[in-house]
Amino acid sequence: MRILITGSAGFIGYNFSKYLLDNTNYKIIGIDNINDYYSTKIKKKRLEDLKRYKKFKFFKTDIKNKEKLKKIFIPKINAVFHFAAQAGVRYSLINPRSYLESNTLGFFNIIEMIKEKKINKFYYASSSSVYGDSNKFPLKETDKVNPKNIYGLTKKNNEEIAEIFLQNTTIKSIGLRFFTVFGEWGRPDMLVFKYLQSIFNKKKKFYLNNYGNHTRDFTYIKDVCEIMHKLLKKRSNKIHEVYNICSNRPIKITKILRFIDLNFEKKPKIYKRNFQLADVKKTHGNNYNISNYTGKKKYTNIKIALNNTSQWYKNNWKVYF
Ligand SMILES: NC(=O)c1ccc[n+]([C@@H]2O[C@H](COP(=O)([O-])OP(=O)(O)OC[C@H]3O[C@@H](n4cnc5c(N)ncnc54)[C@H](O)[C@@H]3O)[C@@H](O)[C@H]2O)c1
Repeated sequence: MRILITGSAGFIGYNFSKYLLDNTNYKIIGIDNINDYYSTKIKKKRLEDLKRYKKFKFFKTDIKNKEKLKKIFIPKINAVFHFAAQAGVRYSLINPRSYLESNTLGFFNIIEMIKEKKINKFYYASSSSVYGDSNKFPLKETDKVNPKNIYGLTKKNNEEIAEIFLQNTTIKSIGLRFFTVFGEWGRPDMLVFKYLQSIFNKKKKFYLNNYGNHTRDFTYIKDVCEIMHKLLKKRSNKIHEVYNICSNRPIKITKILRFIDLNFEKKPKIYKRNFQLADVKKTHGNNYNISNYTGKKKYTNIKIALNNTSQWYKNNWKVYF
């Protein structure tokens, strides 16, 4: 089997590539443009690790460039996991165009290639951001989607494109609505790693938005990789589906910080501030559908997952400097 993974220098793309390289005989083709939305040092380190595997081949390519993609899609590819995107909710207020370019046009280039090459399995990153603000929890896949920022809108749009563009084909596509994924090699622009960085670097001020009153359905990367591997092994007749990928265990941000603190002798200074535009107050997904489809799974205890992540950071903090 040959699997193409876009965004393979990114947090989820790297971890899933590594997971498949370690646990299967699949050949992995990785694509990433290694953009500087956050430190390219982290992305290059992740790639360095993947390049140790003979089964891994990497192309530094922008998914906006269809001509380059055509050359990469030449060998027979059995499945595509599409994670390359402009991520981050807040940055979509600053540079909305980059979201339309990578997440809408880039997404369309990928899906066109999939249709042209008749690749029967297509999995792509959507987001819990498609739901927007809600006061009815846990969120189900059938609930109304109502994104409140351009980022979420591009993800909603991806789901619509996949559903309409691939109808009347044999291509199965699955949208993965990720809820706050965290873990080893995590993103420096997300809460857990922002906090970890501020522990090691006084210059990195840690701002606690909404005075810590946000609640998020934190989902550990190892659980996410296991679920995606199970999905890859499944056959299904349905053409397009979306699944919440979440632990179904919402937790207050302040509690997350307390769990991280248990791993360190010193605590960073916390700068509390107001609710930030584009944020939602709470996320909490229902994961009944994914469990029903791929089989029940025991999610990693949040405290253990945060311990693993903190310990990993202790050994790798230099990558984030
Ligand atoms: N991490 C989360 O909690 C989370 C939650 C919801 C959705 N998602 C989605 O999951 C996917 C992966 O997220 P992540 O956390 O790994 O983010 P990430 O930023 O670490 O990874 C995305 C990767 O895509 C690459 N990329 C961006 N634009 C590209 C382009 N035009 N061409 C080629 N490569 C490009 C980046 O360089 C980066 O390495 C994204 O689509 C993101 O929107 C993530």
